[in-house]
Amino acid sequence: MDIKKYLNGQKEAVDSFLRSYFREQIRPPVLQEAMLYSLFAGGKRIRPILALAAFEACGGTAPEILAYASTLELIHTYSLIHDDLPAMDNDDLRRGKPTNHKVYGEAVAILAGDALLTEAFCILSDPSWSPSLPVSHLLRASREIALASGARGMVAGQVQDMLSEKAEPDEGTLEFIHRNKTAALILASVRLGPILRGSGDKEFSAMSRFGQKIGLAFQVIDDILDVEGETEELGKPRGSDEDRKKMTYPRLYGVVKSREIANQLISDALSSLDIFPAEADPLREIAQYLLNRRS
Ligand code: IPE
Ligand code: IPE
Ligand code: MG
Ligand code: MG
Ligand code: MG
Repeated sequence: MDIKKYLNGQKEAVDSFLRSYFREQIRPPVLQEAMLYSLFAGGKRIRPILALAAFEACGGTAPEILAYASTLELIHTYSLIHDDLPAMDNDDLRRGKPTNHKVYGEAVAILAGDALLTEAFCILSDPSWSPSLPVSHLLRASREIALASGARGMVAGQVQDMLSEKAEPDEGTLEFIHRNKTAALILASVRLGPILRGSGDKEFSAMSRFGQKIGLAFQVIDDILDVEGETEELGKPRGSDEDRKKMTYPRLYGVVKSREIANQLISDALSSLDIFPAEADPLREIAQYLLNRRS
């Protein structure tokens, strides 16, 4: 299969849903502008695409859950806006453009992030986006996303990330940071497949294992790209982690060993998909693509 084509097609579907969702004017206009500025600045849309591919792997058809999958991008974009703030990573470039607070100021940037997060749950709490889905599946999916985003997931990871700046890296803390700040939302994204499809425990467990492995690998690779990538290609400043003395995989293990760790994680992730039929091929290809990505 042509994975580039698949990714572009799904990205276009997500973008087109989000565009139509925000057609209605939000007031004051600067709030809408700030929200859409970061949402449509670019970005791979990898979390919604993972949810769509996981749903397909479980025998569903992607358009059925497009609205719910797209909420992952709203939450992810909020997390990026806040992550870049002066109080956090203090970065000036994101998705190839000046960061949200550079354009709209810190107050509007914080509020635009808050609004994107909240908007995700407006969509998730509305069953009419997909009337054929049992509401109980949707409720379970919403809870999964909430847990992954909040104090038991991404927010916890972000707090530990801040607390660990300049600290001597240790394996346990590093893994805690990465599992929470990044892997948790990626895990929730792939879990959306079996949850919304109502798959059995075997599929749910296998998909969870896949999500945990690619989720951790995703942040290990993000760390490596901070060392080896190009600002132009990344759309965010290379060396930001080094500047802030972040606790990263390359800092603890070096880039060569970090690469090996990422390779092993992706290989384990692929093995956990063995129980799935050919409908899981896009998911398999995405895992491989994540390993080789340059942005
Ligand atoms: C960057 O995420 C932040 C991390 C959690 C590592 P992505 O690499 O998915 O960024 P975009 O969405 O493509 O800009
Ligand atoms: C961010 O991790 C994780 C989030 C929850 C946003 P990073 O701080 O490494 O992400 P980048 O490198 O700025 O995209
Ligand atoms: Mg950060
Ligand atoms: Mg950052
Ligand atoms: Mg990073």
